[in-house]
Amino acid sequence: MSRVRVHNFSISLDGFGTGDGQSLEAPFGHAGQRLHAWMFATRFWDDAGTAGVDNAFAERHEPGIGAEIMGAGKFGPPGWQDDPEWRGWWGPNPPFHTPVYVLTHRPRPPLEMDGGTTFHFVDVEPVDALAVAREAADGQDIRIGGGATTLREFLAAGLVDHLHVVQVPIVLGRGVRLWDGLEALEEQYDVEAVSSPSGVTHLTFTR
Ligand SMILES: NC(=O)c1ccc[n+]([C@@H]2O[C@H](COP(=O)([O-])OP(=O)(O)OC[C@H]3O[C@@H](n4cnc5c(N)ncnc54)[C@H](OP(=O)(O)O)[C@@H]3O)[C@@H](O)[C@H]2O)c1
Repeated sequence: MSRVRVHNFSISLDGFGTGDGQSLEAPFGHAGQRLHAWMFATRFWDDAGTAGVDNAFAERHEPGIGAEIMGAGKFGPPGWQDDPEWRGWWGPNPPFHTPVYVLTHRPRPPLEMDGGTTFHFVDVEPVDALAVAREAADGQDIRIGGGATTLREFLAAGLVDHLHVVQVPIVLGRGVRLWDGLEALEEQYDVEAVSSPSGVTHLTFTR
């Protein structure tokens, strides 16, 4: 059976997966780019980047993925549902190259993009979104792409098989929390932690 995976999901020391005040100009709110600075410095992101521990984790994002599921808050800034022209942050050729299921209470017709990405907009429970994505993934794994609210829903429903969280040594103080309501989640997984010289800690929760 294909697995449900999460990669490179970055949180602050106080557990926020995004900052406060998300907008078109600030996709991560007041967090800016600080949650993903570790990733932007790797070869996975930039050909001139580093090739060490952070890169080894970062590049596991792609192989074996046949579909992604994301929340409405990742697909666009607050209010994108009112803009019929909004096609996501990523330009004409988004980096997914698979079907992508966007959870939203205001679905719209599918958007076929260049490079093999099609965005499907679905108003269903996580378990039902997973069933559709699994069918589309044709035997490959499904990635839960975030944001924090969506990932928390999938974790609460017990649907995630492999979770890679990157703890970044910043304190955000406000934003959207990942761990709320997930008491004792770790009991369902083998947990490992790897510290990187960059200052981040890679945590893997594997069923
Ligand atoms: N830290 C990281 O590594 C990381 C990764 C990805 C994204 N992000 C950031 O995370 C932020 C977005 O996270 P978020 O927690 O605000 O939002 P989110 O998880 O992306 O989306 C939550 C929204 O998705 C819709 N939704 C979720 N479950 C649904 C369901 N079962 N049925 C129908 N609709 C459903 C609802 O939107 P509606 O009610 O509006 O339809 C809900 O408000 C962005 O700033 C993004 O840049 C961070």
